[in-house]
Amino acid sequence: MRTVLIIGATRGLGEALAHQYVKQGMQVYATARYSVPQSTAHNLQWISHIDITHEGAGRRISAHWESASKVDLLVICAGYFASDTLEDLDMEKQLVMYKTCAIGPTFLVHGLLHTGLLKSGSRIVLVSGESGSITLRHDRGGNYGGHASKAALNMVGKLLSIDLKPKGIAVALVHTGYLRIQDKEGNWSKKKDAATPEEAANALRAWIDTFDISKTGQFWSVRGPAGIRSAEAVLGPVDTLPTPLQLPW
Ligand SMILES: NC(=O)c1ccc[n+]([C@@H]2O[C@H](COP(=O)([O-])OP(=O)(O)OC[C@H]3O[C@@H](n4cnc5c(N)ncnc54)[C@H](OP(=O)(O)O)[C@@H]3O)[C@@H](O)[C@H]2O)c1
Repeated sequence: MRTVLIIGATRGLGEALAHQYVKQGMQVYATARYSVPQSTAHNLQWISHIDITHEGAGRRISAHWESASKVDLLVICAGYFASDTLEDLDMEKQLVMYKTCAIGPTFLVHGLLHTGLLKSGSRIVLVSGESGSITLRHDRGGNYGGHASKAALNMVGKLLSIDLKPKGIAVALVHTGYLRIQDKEGNWSKKKDAATPEEAANALRAWIDTFDISKTGQFWSVRGPAGIRSAEAVLGPVDTLPTPLQLPW
């Protein structure tokens, strides 16, 4: 693997993953929704104004692609979450969640395929969340947009894996665990079992090293059951569950 394309790399998991792959010596293409951060690394190329909710995002990436090599690994990190309850629903926010998490990735992959940036041997990792697993919903409702948009992404990933298998392109869904959030003073939240973006990116890279066409169409938690609240109730004692852990849909 030489060339990595990361969608949504200005913050959080995408930023950490981009920096780690740059350090590893990969050629990294990283996208930003607005202007691009300053970068001095020769193997990090930013592409600005990539909004995954825009139909032409894939074509824009292809238009700004500068190397002869195609995409060996595509990781879509871009996501949007807004909490809601049955008593307090927000139509606009729900539309943004579905467009960002599920509809956008479908069109982006379509665009990259049709411009030839994805080819036989490419691998696609869609960053989903255990929140998108229907089986793991156990005793807590709410967050309709957050859960259902990731469930929709899981369906998109499964369908892509079927359509792209004959082309030799592997597609997987991953949960990287819940991420700790840093406040303006630089302090990290202390959410139980939550990881820093660097820890999550490390675990994701280790899992990606094992990802080939034999895992296409699967849904994996790269940090095992860590932070999955319903794991014990639905999947059994957490100390018997492996890391990484294949998740039920
Ligand atoms: N954080 C968690 O606890 C958690 C848990 C489970 C799953 N996940 C999933 O893991 C992924 C990464 O999470 P994170 O916490 O690192 O996210 P984050 O800090 O919110 O970063 C999201 C990244 O996506 C970009 N982005 C947002 N909307 C976009 C759009 N419409 N088009 C293109 N880029 C867009 C953001 O760019 P801007 O800087 O322009 O906003 C940012 O670079 C997401 O898919 C999230 O759903 C996160």
